[in-house]
Amino acid sequence: MRVDIVTIFPEFFGVLDVSLLGRARREQLLELHVHDLRDHTHDRHRTVDDTPYGGGAGMVMRPEPWGEAFDELLGEGAADAVVVFPTPAGVPFTQSLARELAEERRLIFACGRYEGIDARVAEHVATRARVIEVSLGDYVLNGGEVAAMAMIEAIGRLVPGVVGNPASLVEESHEEGLLEHPSYTKPATWRGLDVPEVLRGGNHGAIAAWRREQALERTRRVRPDLLPADGADA
Ligand code: ADE
Repeated sequence: MRVDIVTIFPEFFGVLDVSLLGRARREQLLELHVHDLRDHTHDRHRTVDDTPYGGGAGMVMRPEPWGEAFDELLGEGAADAVVVFPTPAGVPFTQSLARELAEERRLIFACGRYEGIDARVAEHVATRARVIEVSLGDYVLNGGEVAAMAMIEAIGRLVPGVVGNPASLVEESHEEGLLEHPSYTKPATWRGLDVPEVLRGGNHGAIAAWRREQALERTRRVRPDLLPADGADA
């Protein structure tokens, strides 16, 4: 998979060299390219923003640098790219969207700052590629960079080969529509706290049942919105 990121803060993405994604890059499972939006400005101050039409606080990103950046990225061979605009006004980012995007050959993240990007940019890009506006959650970040990074990590780890043991991707929160059961490792007793007895026996059926009950209990307590509305077990 190839991922392009357009931002006015390329240095944010240095962390993508670390840990699992760093290894995936070195092993060429993931190809990541970070582009500085200001390379597509032509004034002395490398201006990317201006005041909003209609008034109001804050600044809006001008369309011209974005237009040039997309002309370059959506040139030949990128017709099948999916363009993601991180924005608190987008559809919620979920594990199922991460799974869907992990199947793509090419993703482009357009990281806006300030009060966002002139709305014509997404409209214009949508005539050339699939565009989705995606929110990380119901809160406001200073820009799309941290949101893009979170999405790239969630998507990247689903690309085959990035996580060494694919089974570990299945037994996780959200993969089965529930929060994950609690996990324990050695020692069996630590600071007076015991690992649950059932996990120390070898009864795999009992362990699976215990884990499912724990997952359901945790989901009911912390995230009842994930369960069917009629109260039936998932
Ligand atoms: N940019 C600013 N806030 C954001 C959010 N919650 N999700 C995605 N992008 C954002």
